[in-house]
Amino acid sequence: MATAELEGKRVLLGMTGGIACYKIAELTRLMTKAGASVQVAMTEAATQFITPVTMQALSGHPVFTSQWDARIDNNMPHIDLSRAADAIVIAPASADFLAKLAHGRADDLLSILCLARECPLLVVPAMNRQMWSNPATQRNVAQLRADGVIILGPDAGSQACGEVGEGRMIEPEAAYEAIVSFFRPKLLAGRRVLITAGPTFEPIDPVRGITNRSSGKMGFALARAASQAGADVRLIAGPVALSTPWGVEREDVETAQQMHDAVMHAVADYDVFVAVAAVADWRVAQASEHKIKKTETHSVPTLSFVENPDILATVAHLPNPPFCVGFAAESGNLEANGEQKRMRKNVPLLIGNLGPATFGRDDNEVVLFDASGVTRLPRAGKDALASVLIAEIARRLPDASLIS
Ligand code: CTP
Repeated sequence: MATAELEGKRVLLGMTGGIACYKIAELTRLMTKAGASVQVAMTEAATQFITPVTMQALSGHPVFTSQWDARIDNNMPHIDLSRAADAIVIAPASADFLAKLAHGRADDLLSILCLARECPLLVVPAMNRQMWSNPATQRNVAQLRADGVIILGPDAGSQACGEVGEGRMIEPEAAYEAIVSFFRPKLLAGRRVLITAGPTFEPIDPVRGITNRSSGKMGFALARAASQAGADVRLIAGPVALSTPWGVEREDVETAQQMHDAVMHAVADYDVFVAVAAVADWRVAQASEHKIKKTETHSVPTLSFVENPDILATVAHLPNPPFCVGFAAESGNLEANGEQKRMRKNVPLLIGNLGPATFGRDDNEVVLFDASGVTRLPRAGKDALASVLIAEIARRLPDASLIS
């Protein structure tokens, strides 16, 4: 999580009764750490699961639990609180509260301020699987969607009641991601973005192989930022230890050839291709099917290599290519090498850095190469940099003609 992603954002966090209330402590911490001002309002039932004291300590603001609250000068907390929010997030949202929202009921502070709101409403349902799948709840959810309410989740899995099914609240990290996403400008709305990330692994035998030190962090950060900018994102990842960003479709591959095949299979459906992966240039000509034993080789083994396909150059030379963006980690002479590489790969935009020193780090400093010249961007965390790069890509895209 990048710091300050929610700087200046005012969130009214409404909690209703449910065991998932414990997850909201973490969600609150994530939002405040990212710079949001979080005002908590709880129903009476929510206070049975977690105390207002805990929520006050985590949010840094006194909690509201009743529409009769003398702390507000005119005693109209429903107006004051809803006007002071950029968005209302109801988490967890019980089946009962969804029903109230769908019908416009207003009989406690939280339901009144939802009805009185002028800002967007995001709802994070959490309930038993039967309560969720009940036609009444499904009717209510459909009505809320039709009313423009954003529904986040629920997840499927094991439930606090011991049953297994759809209805449990999405994890606090996922809710946080969705909230950040909600606030981001939709610079890539309607665009489809294909991204490669991470290293590749080229086998020598079933237990050995050749790889590199790419962590995949930059590619994953770009996938996250593209998704937050409203794009439909597919991420083709080499072997990395990273979780999939919220809203991103991921396909795991191992070798350069597999990455090439996965990209070529998908690329016709995409408007933008961003090649961030550190693809192995060569693979072992004849990987052994059995572990190469020391006792079998009487001398040090010799490996011979063949060249892997250049995925980016192949895509960029297609008759009708997507907008292609390349990455180049150079160990020196970045400015000369970057422009040469951009021309060689036939891409409109190449993002260069002085790797491999940046491999595995959480920050990066890059230089952009395009037809108009060279632009240096200041050093930044990979998440913050990814948002800047997405904006740089978005403003270079040909207009609506490419939107599928
Ligand atoms: N790339 C690719 N397929 C390859 C090699 C590279 O798609 N087989 C992409 C990378 O994802 C990156 C760009 O090409 O976007 C540049 O990668 P880099 O390794 O810097 O370029 P190379 O062509 O390998 O050039 P060199 O090794 O000579 O620097």
